[in-house]
Amino acid sequence: MHHFEYRSGRLYAEDVDVAALADRIGSPFYVYSEATLRRHMRVFHKAFEGADPLVAFSVKANSNIAVLKILQSEGSGADVVSGGELQRALKAGIAPDKIVFSGIGKTRDEVKAALNAGIYQFNVESAPELEALNALALETGKSAPVALRVNPDVAAGGHDKISTGRKEDKFGVAWEEARGLYGRAREMKGVDVVGVDLHIGSQIADLAPFEAAFSKAAQLIADLRADGCSIDRLDLGGGLGIPYGDAATPPHPNDYAALIKRLTAPLGVRLIFEPGRMICGNAGILVTRVIFVKEGVARKFLIVDAAMNDLIRPALYDAHHEIIPVIQNDEAPRTTYDVVGPVCESSDFFAKARALPEMKEGDLAAIMSAGAYGAVQASQYNTRPLIPEVLVNSDRHAVIRRRPSFDEMIALEASPDWL
Ligand code: LLP
Repeated sequence: MHHFEYRSGRLYAEDVDVAALADRIGSPFYVYSEATLRRHMRVFHKAFEGADPLVAFSVKANSNIAVLKILQSEGSGADVVSGGELQRALKAGIAPDKIVFSGIGKTRDEVKAALNAGIYQFNVESAPELEALNALALETGKSAPVALRVNPDVAAGGHDKISTGRKEDKFGVAWEEARGLYGRAREMKGVDVVGVDLHIGSQIADLAPFEAAFSKAAQLIADLRADGCSIDRLDLGGGLGIPYGDAATPPHPNDYAALIKRLTAPLGVRLIFEPGRMICGNAGILVTRVIFVKEGVARKFLIVDAAMNDLIRPALYDAHHEIIPVIQNDEAPRTTYDVVGPVCESSDFFAKARALPEMKEGDLAAIMSAGAYGAVQASQYNTRPLIPEVLVNSDRHAVIRRRPSFDEMIALEASPDWL
């Protein structure tokens, strides 16, 4: 469910005419719908009504401060994976006691910043990280609330590159080693063992892998309690998929919640979630303009002004994103295009062999479901400026990140004095 729809043949973002917006902003740019962001956060909270979970939005999915502020006002916490994301979450007004810190390679400086902020939980992924955290906590006279991220060895996720819960993946503590490491953690004076954490992958389109992993986690909690560990939190990570307009229809959050309630109710733990894509994926689109239509020998190319540096998901994961014309043109004959950007890489594409109503130079297209892992994964490759992010709220819009000037783009560079 989202708030992008045609009205009299023109695409609207809430009550804002996207083509008119493109004339003001200049393409390409991202548009986010505030109503959609709010709705998704509410749907997630509602699914767990009565359970009082911590819903810690996974900041990596969309870290724009305005987006974080919106989610904060809906009661969201934050799942962060770097000192930078921690600063963003705090700046957006998210209370430290709603912040969890994940990731396999937290640096000493990042850990210190999080200890000083007094965050809710460190999700620790290895023995050396646990040792380092303990030492730093003792140094700063603090006690670090810790959950170990355990790796349940379950395959899940929409693509090999976003599956994280198999034993060959770099994430988490191996299942067979978890109890031993919990035993060591309990002995550490700087560490307060509070929970179990797992995250098995992203864009997961069915409940089976969740069920397999979460059942294992429930068993682990029973074992740890038998060992004398007091575990009162269970962080189940993120990973629930969204519809991208292709074959997969991911489960509704209510069904996901029903499964989790069934598996975890007997444990009496506080649940923590780290949803990213599910909250912001369908709340954003990427608006782009056709530069040329090129009749190749074998293929017809729609060359647009957005590129893989703006949205890398198709290039990196063969991800499917629906593409629609901003001005509807249903009478036009359907034509099969490769939709590509101007970057000098063959992997710079948004769609291959996609049937679309015929388009011509200057037409606008919207690449749908681009609100998660879009702007955050952008780069300035080919010295292309990072594109604006625009937020709409009913008939209002605001640029929440502007396009940098060329001077700003090169401002951090310097020539050595011998040149
Ligand atoms: N928690 C942890 C520890 C994670 O690593 C992630 C995502 C999440 C939560 C949020 O997962 P979500 O609910 O968004 O699935 N760039 C890829 C996705 C990478 C996901 C990385 N971790 C993509 O564009 O598909």
